[in-house]
Amino acid sequence: MTRIFSGIKPSGHLTLGNYLGALRQWVQADQHRADALFCVVDLHALTVDHDPARVRRLSRQTASLFLAAGLDPELCTLFVQSHVHEHTRLSYLLECTATDGEMRRMIQYKEKAARERAGGGSVRLSLLTYPVLMAADILAYGADEVPVGDDQAQHVELTRDLAERFNQRYGATFVVPRAVLPSVAARVMDLQDPTSKMGKSHAETSGIVYLLDEADVVRKKIMRAVTDSGSEVAYDPEAQPGVANLLEILAGCTGRKPLDLAAEYSTRGSGYGALKKDTAEAVVELLRPIRERHAQLCADPGQVDDVLRAGAERARGLARPTVDAAYRAIGLLPPV
Ligand code: TYM
Repeated sequence: MTRIFSGIKPSGHLTLGNYLGALRQWVQADQHRADALFCVVDLHALTVDHDPARVRRLSRQTASLFLAAGLDPELCTLFVQSHVHEHTRLSYLLECTATDGEMRRMIQYKEKAARERAGGGSVRLSLLTYPVLMAADILAYGADEVPVGDDQAQHVELTRDLAERFNQRYGATFVVPRAVLPSVAARVMDLQDPTSKMGKSHAETSGIVYLLDEADVVRKKIMRAVTDSGSEVAYDPEAQPGVANLLEILAGCTGRKPLDLAAEYSTRGSGYGALKKDTAEAVVELLRPIRERHAQLCADPGQVDDVLRAGAERARGLARPTVDAAYRAIGLLPPV
C-alpha cells in the first residue's frame, strides 16, 4: 500500500493556503487511498524567534484543525513530531549525508535568513538545517508520496537526493519519495500582495485568510483583495496575478478549473466585483464547517490528546525499524 507523509508546522494560525495547498488533498483523497501519516511538525516551529507558550498553543490548535478539516483517526495517523524521537535521531545521520552548499541553496532558507537579518536578528543554525529534519520526517516512514504545496517542492527534491545518496553509499535503506502537488491552488498568494505567497507567519495579516477567521472578516479580506488594472477577467498569473489568485482560490473551493471560471466571468462581463463576491462566499462556505467542528473540539481537548497519543505510538512503531537500519548501515555499533 502506498505510504504518505506530510506535515504542517505550528508557526502561526493555519491559512487558506495551507488548506488548499495541502490539507484539502489529505482529507479528500490521501487518507482514503493510502496509509497516510499527518504530523504537527512542531520542531520546525523553533527555527525562528518563537514564544514557547504560543508554539504549545498553536501545536494543539493545528492538531484540532486537522480533525476539524476532516482527517479521520480511523483512516490515518495523526501525531506530533516531537513525540516521536526517530525524527531527530535520523536527522543527524542525514546531516552527515547533506552538504552545507546544498543547504545554503534552499530558497526558503535564503528568503527567511534575509528577512531575519533585515530585522536585525540573527539566524538560528536550525533554519539552515531544517530541510534535513524535513527529509528525516519523510524518510523515517518510508513514504512514497509527500503531498505539499509548491513552496515545499524543493525540500522534497532534496529529500530524494539525500535518500539516493545514502542508499548508494551505505546500501538500500530508504524509499525515495516524490512530491505530489495539487493541480490548482498549489501556491495561494497574499491577497494584498499577489506576487508573494500567503504565509502563516507573515506580520501583515490583511491579505491572509485564516481558517478560523469569522465569516465577515473573510468577506472583507477577499473584497479588498488587490486586483489588477483593467476589469477584464482573464487567467494570466504573470500579467494579472491578483485576478489569477482569486480564480485559483475559487477553483480550489469548487473543484472547477481557473481557465473555465475565467471564461465564464469574462462572458458575463461583470468585472472583478462578481468574481470577488463569489470567491468570498465560496471560502466562507468552505470554512464554516471547519470552524464549527473546531469549536466543538476545543470544548473536549481530551479527544485530541487521545488521538495524538495513539498516533505517536503507531508512528514510533513504524519509524524505529527504518531508523535503526540506517544507524547500522552508516557504521554505528548497535547497543550491546
Ligand atoms: P508549512 O507549515 O509552511 O505549510 C504546510 C503545507 O501548506 C502548504 N502551503 C501552501 N500551499 C499553497 N499556497 C500557500 N500559500 C501555502 N502555504 C503553505 C505547504 O506547501 C505545505 O505543504 N517544511 C514544511 C513542513 C514539513 C513537512 C515535512 C511537509 C516539515 N516536515 C515533511 C511535508 C513532509 C512547512 O514549513 O510547511
